[in-house]
Amino acid sequence: MLEVLRDLAGFADTEVLRGRLLRARHLLARLEMTRYGLDEPGWAALLDAVTVQETRMFRAAPQLEAFRARALPGLIKRAQGRPLSLVSAGCATGEEAWTLAVIAASGGAAAWRVLGLDLCRPALEVAARARYRLGPPDALREVPPADRALLAIEGDCFGPAAALRPRVAFRRANLLEPGLETASADAILCRNVLIYLTPEGRLAVLRRLVAALRPGGALLLGPTDSPPAELRLKPLGGDAVGIWRREDDNG
Ligand SMILES: C[S@@+](CC[C@H](N)C(=O)[O-])C[C@H]1O[C@@H](n2cnc3c(N)ncnc32)[C@H](O)[C@@H]1O
Repeated sequence: MLEVLRDLAGFADTEVLRGRLLRARHLLARLEMTRYGLDEPGWAALLDAVTVQETRMFRAAPQLEAFRARALPGLIKRAQGRPLSLVSAGCATGEEAWTLAVIAASGGAAAWRVLGLDLCRPALEVAARARYRLGPPDALREVPPADRALLAIEGDCFGPAAALRPRVAFRRANLLEPGLETASADAILCRNVLIYLTPEGRLAVLRRLVAALRPGGALLLGPTDSPPAELRLKPLGGDAVGIWRREDDNG
């Protein structure tokens, strides 16, 4: 990859460079992501350049609606008043984490917090600023009308309502490395992230995420992600695609 980048540096045209980097992003999956420290400047810049940040509020809304209606009430009950811990693993520019905040606030959780994790530094800056353009294309096209009350719209921008902000935090992290505390999260969303990893990388990330879930906790994956049997995840079932539950202590 480094040789490829050295070659790329020979191109003066930034559009060419950007296009090449975009086309080379599959190479990232072949690298040992843990070989360089996350803060090694060249490596950090490369990760910023080649990771794909496509996301939006309430992306894949039917899955999120199923989570709110069918998984969240059980998680709230189990928490018995302790703050729910919700994680967006691979949060990109933050819309998924803010969506989780809207869902928690509207879904009856009295106390909750959301943590967004990602590798990409510019994306995390956008996530923390939480001021997004309305579009076009319509950035709120998947947001259920009732949830718009939890967003603040100003001119051609929107962000989360002020009350949500103190409960959401973002942190730079590599999902392939230890990071989340064992059995600490009630729900983890890791959607449209595993597709960029090798089979070994996918398994390593899934093992870490499942270990970070509390027993009975929920894992939301992309529709094509299939967790291996060794993880003993149970699908929520019905029409809820990609929602999995960690076995609780009673099986
Ligand atoms: C396409 S976005 C998905 C955003 C959001 N989860 C969604 O579904 O809308 C993928 C994100 O995963 C992040 N990512 C990829 N590999 C990662 C890793 N090993 N650790 C942390 N973040 C990673 C990328 O930086 C990117 O922001």
